[in-house]
Amino acid sequence: MGIATLTRPIGRPNNLLVVAQVMSAALVGVQAALVRVEVDVAPGLPAFHTVGLPDSAVRESRERVRTAIRNAGFRFPSDRITVNLAPADVRKEGTSFDLPIALGILAATGAVENGRIGPFAVVGELALDGQIQAVRGVLAVGLACRRQGIDTLVVPVANHAEARAVDGLQVLPAPTLRVAVGLLNGAEAAAMPTPEPPAPAVTDDLDFADVRGQSHAKRALEIAAAGAHNVLLVGPPGGGKTMLARRLASILPPLTRDEMIEVSTIWSVAGLLSRQGELMSRRPFRAPHHTASVSGLIGGGSPPHPGEVTLAHLGVLFLDELPEFQQHVLESLRQPMEDGHVTIVRASGISDFPSRFQLVAAANPCRRGCPSLDHCVCTCAERARYLGRLSRPLLDRIDLHVELPALAPDDVQAPIASDSSATMLARVGAARQRQRDRLRAGGIRVNAAMSPRQVRRFCAVPAEGERLLAAAMTRLGLSARGHDRVLKVARTIADLAGADSLAVEHCAEAIQYRGLDRQWRA
Ligand SMILES: Nc1ncnc2c1ncn2[C@@H]1O[C@H](COP(=O)(O)OP(=O)(O)OP(=O)(O)O)[C@@H](O)[C@H]1O
Ligand SMILES: [Mg+2]
Repeated sequence: MGIATLTRPIGRPNNLLVVAQVMSAALVGVQAALVRVEVDVAPGLPAFHTVGLPDSAVRESRERVRTAIRNAGFRFPSDRITVNLAPADVRKEGTSFDLPIALGILAATGAVENGRIGPFAVVGELALDGQIQAVRGVLAVGLACRRQGIDTLVVPVANHAEARAVDGLQVLPAPTLRVAVGLLNGAEAAAMPTPEPPAPAVTDDLDFADVRGQSHAKRALEIAAAGAHNVLLVGPPGGGKTMLARRLASILPPLTRDEMIEVSTIWSVAGLLSRQGELMSRRPFRAPHHTASVSGLIGGGSPPHPGEVTLAHLGVLFLDELPEFQQHVLESLRQPMEDGHVTIVRASGISDFPSRFQLVAAANPCRRGCPSLDHCVCTCAERARYLGRLSRPLLDRIDLHVELPALAPDDVQAPIASDSSATMLARVGAARQRQRDRLRAGGIRVNAAMSPRQVRRFCAVPAEGERLLAAAMTRLGLSARGHDRVLKVARTIADLAGADSLAVEHCAEAIQYRGLDRQWRA
């Protein structure tokens, strides 16, 4: 009998006094680890203990389990019940162990029969009347089951759509404890309504066609979308920085199937997947307010929860009014931006969260938000101090610095004649295809993710370009990282132009997006 099946050893003479075990899972970061729920019912004064590093929500499950078992019409044993959650070194949190504990007790008392179905696992929270409520992280649990050779998962009905996305997993949705017992005893699962075909992408009415002027910024955002580069927009108030940044999502290619599972797993662990449990089909776009804390942005707490950088994984993190963020919060972004993941260490263990996001930031050039340099009432020192809040290492990680001019009255009144998001998306899609073809062997998809070795290999620059780059390094004070990032942007510009090799003009355009390096940090 596999560890995943429910067992009732017959070592004791009284059939009521036995050990049962049911598989379930605990969330560790954005992954799930299988947990064996062992239930021992032994003679003695009535008692109910839970051991094996449970948090308070798991300990409280005793009352829910006891009441739900009775209200579902089963007998609750008046013996000494010990529940062990193994392995003991994995922290168990939340309410998803209610259902496996209840089923373990019912197995020990004979209400659930042994071996009626193959290896299975169970997650679900119990309401007092025996109804089963949705839990977080079911997608991660389903993936863990498949990795460990468990092919059946009993889930709350509300998590059915989500669990069904795991290939090769048989999902048994149970609305109540009584139905869950029936399923384990071999009853047929009720047919669930066939899922609606995914709704067409939500048209949230954000289109680049609405933006007047600012063609330089639009071009930079197209490059950013094509190569997944980070971008900073700097300009006077009301010039369209927020408007432009929010439209970036409209020119990003849709998620692939694997990416949908990856992103949805994170959102499910965070409890943010839609009520219908449908997978995320659009790239995430997260826009936290500038009062965000380090733990809100990076993740943290005990047990650790994913932060905004993880919720933006494979999507966009938009930080509006960048210099208004607390400086130590901004600095905490450096490691996840560089490594593509965040490691949070707590006494209870280490959690690793993915964080491959694209940063889009916006800033005014000065604290008072003066309309233009000519009309700025701030002193030079004040201006330098404001953008100086963005440290050199942070700026170094931003590939495209874009300065927006204030819109001239002519620009505002002229009819809009700029590319729509659909036109830009088509160009971005073609450029991404070129990158995928070139980078497939390296296991990455976008230019921004190239390793230093891949930069050497794929970004060979003609002699004149080398000279231009060397001059820029001196003039702008670029670091070696900055130099590589310029080359990556140049590669994306060439991909947008459909060019196989880098030309001088690609390098020249990439260099001019590093303007802030000199202007504000010299
Ligand atoms: N380039 C533009 N084309 C069309 N409308 C614009 C443009 N710029 C600004 N607007 C109008 O002004 C509004 C405010 O713009 P937006 O919020 O993007 O400015 P901002 O640069 O972010 O300003 P702030 O620095 O104050 O945050 C927009 O919602 C839009 O109606
Ligand atoms: Mg704004």
